[in-house]
Formats: sequence, C-alpha cells, structure tokens
Amino acid sequence: MEKQKRSSFSGKLGFVLAAAGSAVGLGNIWRFPYLAAEYGGGIFLLTYLVLAVTFGFTLLIAEIGIGRKTGLSVAGAFTKLNRKFKFLGYFEALVPIIILPYYCVIGGWVTKYMVTFLTGQGVTAASDGFFGAFVGNASEPLLWFSIYLGITAIVVLLGVEKGIEKVSKVMMPVLIALSIFIAVYAMMQPGAIEGVKYYLLPDFTKFSHKTVLAAMGQLFYSMSLAMGIMITYGSYMKKDVNIESSVRQIEIFDTGIAILAGLMIIPAVFIFSGPEGIGAGPSLMFVTLPKVFESMFAGEIIGGLFFVLVLFAALTSSISLMETIVSIFMDLFKTSRTKTCVAVLILSVILGIPSSLGNGPWAHITIFGMAFLDFFDFISNSVMMPVAALITCIFIGYVVKPKTIIEEVETNGAFKSKNLFIVTIKYIAPICIILILLTSILSVLGYMNL
Ligand code: PHE
Repeated sequence: MEKQKRSSFSGKLGFVLAAAGSAVGLGNIWRFPYLAAEYGGGIFLLTYLVLAVTFGFTLLIAEIGIGRKTGLSVAGAFTKLNRKFKFLGYFEALVPIIILPYYCVIGGWVTKYMVTFLTGQGVTAASDGFFGAFVGNASEPLLWFSIYLGITAIVVLLGVEKGIEKVSKVMMPVLIALSIFIAVYAMMQPGAIEGVKYYLLPDFTKFSHKTVLAAMGQLFYSMSLAMGIMITYGSYMKKDVNIESSVRQIEIFDTGIAILAGLMIIPAVFIFSGPEGIGAGPSLMFVTLPKVFESMFAGEIIGGLFFVLVLFAALTSSISLMETIVSIFMDLFKTSRTKTCVAVLILSVILGIPSSLGNGPWAHITIFGMAFLDFFDFISNSVMMPVAALITCIFIGYVVKPKTIIEEVETNGAFKSKNLFIVTIKYIAPICIILILLTSILSVLGYMNL
C-alpha cells in the first residue's frame, strides 16, 4: 500500500493504542527486567518511575506536539519550525537504523523459543545451557534473525500493518492477563520473596550515575522517544484529541507492562539461579522464564502462548521501526516503496549479522569491552538518544520556546502539568542529560585508560 495522503487516527483511543503498539515491545518484556535486575532492583525501578513522570512525560508531550503542530514526520518537522535544526531530524533518523537490526536478532530468539514451545520441546528450552548453546551456534540464530526480519519486511512491504495492529490489539490485553497470571504464580513459589523484595524495595546504597543512565536509556527506548517516531505519530493525530491525557495513558500502558514483566522474571531469577543470577543481561528472560513454565501445570502450552504474544508485541514495534526508516529513505532518495524496503532489508541484514554472531563465534571481538549487540544497544540508547533528547530540550526550551508546544496542547483544554513541562524541558532535563553523558563518557574513557 503506497502511503496515502497523511492519514489520521480515528480518535483518541486509536492514537493511544497505535502509539502504545510501538512503545510496548521487547523493551518492556525483555530489556526492562534485565536492566532492573542488573542495576539494583528497587532503586532502578524507583529511578525509572521518577524519570517516567518527569522526563518521559515532558519529552512525549514535546515530540507529539511537534508532530501535530507541523503535520510532518521527523526530517521535515524540525526544519519547518527552524531551518537550522534540520540536522536534528537526520540525526534522530539514524537511531532506528541502528536499533532495528539488533531488535530483530532478539526477535529471532523469541521466534525460536515460540517454535520450541509450540513443538512440545519446552522442557529442553528450560534445561541449563540451552540458551548458551543456541546463541553460541553460528547458523541457527542467524536463521531465526532472518525469519523475524523477513516477517517484519513483508508486513512493511505489503503495508498490512493495520492487520497486524488489529490482531495485536486483541492480543495485548491477553498478554497483560497472562503476565499477571505468570507473575502471581512466580511470586507464590518458595524462595520468590527475596526476589520480590529486591525488585520492589529500593536500596539507596546501590544508586549511582549508572542507574540514572541505564534508566534514562531504557525510558527513551521503551517509549520510542528521541528517534522521531512519536513526532510521526503526532503528525497523524487529530486536532481535537487531547495530547496531555493521551500521553498519560501511553505512559501507564508502557510502564505498567514493564513493571509486570519485572515481577514475572526477577523473583523467578532468585528461585532458579539465586542472587548471582541477576547479572545475566540480555539472556535473562530466555534463561529464567522457561524454567518457570517447566515448573507449571500445562507449562508448555502457557509458555508457547506467552512467546506468541511477545512475538506480536515485538512485531508491532519492529514494524514501526522499519516503517520509519523506509519513509525517511523514500523522502530522501525519492525511491519506490519496494526498492526502499529491499535496501533497508539488506542494510539490516548486514548490520544484524555482527549482533547475531557476537554472542557466539564472534564473542572474542568486543568494542569498548562490549559484544556487538550490547555495543549497538549502548551507542543508541546511552549516547545518541540522550544527545538527541538534549538538543530537543534546548530547541523547545530556548529556540522555539515552550509556548510553541503549550499552545498546541492547549488547543483542547487546559495543560494541567504546564509548569512541570516548562521546568523540565528548560532546566531539569538538559542539566541531567549533560551530567549523565559526561560521567558516562568519562567512564568509557577511563575504561580505555586514556
Ligand atoms: N519501544 C519499543 C520497545 O519497547 C522499541 C522501539 C523503539 C520501537 C523505537 C519502535 C521505535 O520494544
């Protein structure tokens, strides 16, 4: 389906669900729990929540406001407001190009687990060493990565994302219900209470700049911020829909699912791997959840269903990532949709291969001490997105001034958190981002012994 004239969402619900479809994905279910586990549990959760209602809220309002005001997607939107900021649009457009390939590597892992459970091999998936052997192998993860990326590309190419979105709107509530069930089950197992305490009670001695950096990166990632996606969504939003209350709802959706995923996974880590298990990183979900399913009645079916749902949540996100890249390239190079899709596909395969092999045959190659996948994740979430967010704050706070956005929000009703918005965008957010970026650059340099 060629992009028609600028379409718009039918109403508030349509907008909120579409934005939530992009926001809720692997970031919530796979990434949030392993970061929370790694960065001190309760203190990470608290930091994340504080940032979500200040930072996340402000940036979501800003991006959606920019989109709706200009009626353009990222590259054009900044230019329209101020020509000097054209570069920001291009810079933000780079972020999805980096994220999509490794997102699809993880999507491939999810697909593999789904098929493993659905073919009755859930017990094998729960055995020690299964995950390591799978990602350590060269060809198998590459195969699943290609399958997942292929599905994403076909949907974008055929323009059937509306169909996928419809299905996922039914699946999302099922995912929430199933996650609540799994979380309650996990928390009732003997030994889980230690994990629940670790996750919910903040331990302030574990707080450092790294907690804030990790939480901030996660916030950008999870809410699809600082890469132009929400600007595009905003440009599709009708004028009579209230921006502020839509943003609140998107936040509740996105954060709620992340919190739930943590409850499902972290207590289970304490049961099956003990407190040492919390540093597992990207493998956490894949190692821990199969063990929960194995211990459950009808675990194989529940596990299969769970991975089907996660796959759909992931697909709506990877589709929105790819769609963004395709539309930017189409605008830039004036190429057809099919050609552009093929080009983006090839580029993503090339960029995805190191991330896929980096856990196995290429594990010895590291960049700043990180495997490829972790490096791409770090450079996008902890460097580029904060930089893009910082420039956006300066742009809104000092160049076009907060009133540009405030007027847009106030087109229908009062802007209740106006003062919070102004203070955050002008002072709190830029200062925090600068401090965090400086400390993280210094620590990377320190790491390099420069
Ligand atoms: N927000 C998505 C997630 O949490 C990831 C994503 C990022 C999707 C950027 C689209 C754009 O999984």
